[in-house]
Amino acid sequence: MADDQATLSLGGKDQGFPVRHGSVGPDVIDIRKLYAQTGAFTYDPGFTSTAACESAITYIDGDEGILLHRGYPIDQLAEKSTFMEVSYLLLNGELPSKGELERFTYTISRHTMLHEQLSTFYRGFRRDAHPMAIMCGVVGALSAFYHDSTDITDPQQRMIASHRLIAKMPTIAAMAYKYSIGQPFVYPQNSLTYTGNFLRMTFGVPAEPYEVNPVVEQAMRTIFILHADHEQNASTSTVRLAGSSGANPFACIAAGIACLWGPAHGGANEAALNMLREIGRPERIPEFIARAKDKDDPFRLMGFGHRVYKNYDPRAKVMQKIAEQVLGELGVDDPVFDVARELEQIALHDDYFIEKKLYPNVDFYSGVVLSAIGFPTSMFTALFALARTVGWVAQWNEMISDPEQKIGRPRQLYTGATQRDYVPVEQR
Ligand code: SDX
Repeated sequence: MADDQATLSLGGKDQGFPVRHGSVGPDVIDIRKLYAQTGAFTYDPGFTSTAACESAITYIDGDEGILLHRGYPIDQLAEKSTFMEVSYLLLNGELPSKGELERFTYTISRHTMLHEQLSTFYRGFRRDAHPMAIMCGVVGALSAFYHDSTDITDPQQRMIASHRLIAKMPTIAAMAYKYSIGQPFVYPQNSLTYTGNFLRMTFGVPAEPYEVNPVVEQAMRTIFILHADHEQNASTSTVRLAGSSGANPFACIAAGIACLWGPAHGGANEAALNMLREIGRPERIPEFIARAKDKDDPFRLMGFGHRVYKNYDPRAKVMQKIAEQVLGELGVDDPVFDVARELEQIALHDDYFIEKKLYPNVDFYSGVVLSAIGFPTSMFTALFALARTVGWVAQWNEMISDPEQKIGRPRQLYTGATQRDYVPVEQR
């Protein structure tokens, strides 16, 4: 077979399937005709070996711990770029010129307000509702407000919906926080940066002026960049699958928020800080390491391990630096940070974690920083959703405009009852 063919031998018959090569990373075996040619499906729950799409947005090399957004390494973007610039890059494929960045930033700043009716929507939630429950509800409800941007076959309307989502997520997240603490909503102030606006809406009050702390603003900007996109993770795949049916873009993003909430995914930042607080002091670390290694104990080290990274998550390295900067700048002496660093060192030298290639991921240190800035743990995943929205909409746009795209409809290995006749209840 030509070297760009894979051969499968099934039932004594050899079948060839084309092998496709990306610009970098693993080749793929194109099995779209497998069922037609062999009558068999592949079986890959969790999609550990499955490429669900072709994409040019984000590349991850899990063995080397590399993360590129449109080819640019995450550590360079984290150090040199802004969230608006990275958002433009993810959406459009190239870094913007000065003029393009100014126009994009202006456009986003003009969509930061929410329809006043949505303020009423918040009042339907209990005050102690989890911010992610509110985010799911409010973002889904946006689909009831925008009928002028739901022809998803029109690239212009897709971009309007994308800009609205990127612009409104900080307002929605800040309002969820304000609602939970019984403070009044703070309207956007468009003269501020995207991140500064979010901090003011979150921590400002009408009773006094709010000064954005530049160190906190820079830390939040970098945290948003670190969370912006991450290839075909669970929530992005959820957005793509929802979008493949032609669903309303706001409803698709609400589906992504729902998936991100899980503690195995974006909910891990909240779970990781709760775990570090439960450990409390370095002396208790061995007890939790033992639990994480115990097959009969469902406990896992939150913020550790990753489906793709079998090396250090490059975002975790940046996050650890931000933690040192922010805690130093704010004069926060949080014992949880010491526990995190001690836990990391112990785990990285433990055979179990070495063998299974378990390293800290983006969620391990993020909670330490967010807590130092003043966010409650319940807001951590809402901040992740805020930042990941640009990745979700970039991937959604790419999916809709992909000529090879079809509605996602996986099959199964059926192990249930074969056909049998109905038995009336009197005879059972
Ligand atoms: C994110 O996909 C993405 O890109 C996600 C994300 C993004 O930006 O979108 O990067 C964000 O979700 C980061 C991950 C956050 N989740 C956590 O920190 C939760 C804790 N981590 C684990 O639940 C786990 O590592 C996953 C869910 C992240 C990955 O799980 P996999 O790929 O399904 O791996 P696995 O469960 O098969 O684990 C392999 C082995 C298992 O042991 P064996 O069955 O082979 O004996 O490693 C063990 C697991 O038990 N293991 C852990 C562990 N993670 C995996 N053991 C202890 N502690 C852990 N954290």
